[in-house]
Amino acid sequence: MKRLEGKTALITGAARGIGLAFARAYAREGASVAIADIDHERAIVAVDEINKEFGDRAIAVAFDVTDQASIDAGIARTISHFGQIDVLINNAAIFTAAPISEITRAEYQKVFDINVCGTLFTLQAVANHMIDRGIKGKIINMASQAGRRGESLVAVYCASKAAVISLTQSAGLNLIKHGINVNAIAPGVVDGEHWDGVDAFFAKYEGKAPGQKKKEVGEAVPFGRMATANDLTGMAVFLASSEADYIVAQTYNVDGGNWMS
Ligand SMILES: NC(=O)c1ccc[n+]([C@@H]2O[C@H](COP(=O)([O-])OP(=O)(O)OC[C@H]3O[C@@H](n4cnc5c(N)ncnc54)[C@H](O)[C@@H]3O)[C@@H](O)[C@H]2O)c1
Repeated sequence: MKRLEGKTALITGAARGIGLAFARAYAREGASVAIADIDHERAIVAVDEINKEFGDRAIAVAFDVTDQASIDAGIARTISHFGQIDVLINNAAIFTAAPISEITRAEYQKVFDINVCGTLFTLQAVANHMIDRGIKGKIINMASQAGRRGESLVAVYCASKAAVISLTQSAGLNLIKHGINVNAIAPGVVDGEHWDGVDAFFAKYEGKAPGQKKKEVGEAVPFGRMATANDLTGMAVFLASSEADYIVAQTYNVDGGNWMS
C-alpha cells in the first residue's frame, strides 16, 4: 500500500529543487500532484518527467505566491482537475544576503512577500478549502536552519524563515480543531540551484572563490556532506501521511545534525 494513495498535493515552487523532489516522492507514493510555480515553462517540463515515470499524476499550475488572484486561480484549477486538495507544501521561497548596512527596503519587501506573505495566504486559501469540504488535510511549510538563528550576512532571509516557523506554530494551533495538521521542515544546506545562488552571494561578500563556501558548509555538516533534495523527501511524505495525524505545529530539522532543537 502506497502511503499517499488517493491524495492530491499542491506544492508551490516545485518546478525544480526540493519542491520537485517532493513532487516525485509524492507521485511515487501514489499521490496526484499540482506543480505550482511562477516558472511555468519549467513546471511543464517537470510535469512531463513525472507523468512519464509515474503515469498521469501531475499538472502544472501557473502560480505566483505574491498575487492573491494567482493563488486563488491555481487552487481552483487544481480542485477542478483533481477534485480536492489534501496536502499543501508551502515550498516557494527566495534567498538574499547582504550586510545590514546594505539591506534595501525593496529587497526586504520582495523576500517577505514571497517567503512569509506567500506562505500565509497560500496556507489560508488551501485551509479554507479544506475547512469548507471537511478535509482532514496536511499543510507543510518549508522553514530552514536559517530560521533557528541569525547569520551575519543573511538577516532578511533568516528573519523570513523565523517567521515561517512562528506561522507554523500559530496556524497549527488554530487549524487542528478542523483536523488540519500544520507542520514545517527545516533543512540545513541542500545542494542545488538555490545553493549556487547562495554561494554567489558569499563569493561577493566574503571574497570567496566560486564553490568555496559550498565546500566549506558541506564539510561542516556533522553528517559529512550537504543534503540532496532526496534526503528531505522521507520527512515530507511522513508529514503528509496519516502516520503524522497527532503531530501539530512542529518544525523538524532535517539537516545532517547542523542544529539541535
Ligand atoms: N536549498 C537549501 O539549502 C535550503 C535550505 C533550507 C531551506 N530551504 C527552503 O526549501 C525550499 C525550496 O528550496 P530550493 O533549494 O528547492 O529552492 P529553489 O530556488 O531551487 O526553488 C524555488 C522555487 O520557487 C519558485 N518560486 C520563486 N518565487 C515564486 C513565486 N513568487 N511564486 C511561486 N513560485 C516561486 C522558483 O521558480 C523555484 O522553482 C525554500 O523554501 C527554501 O527556502 C532550502
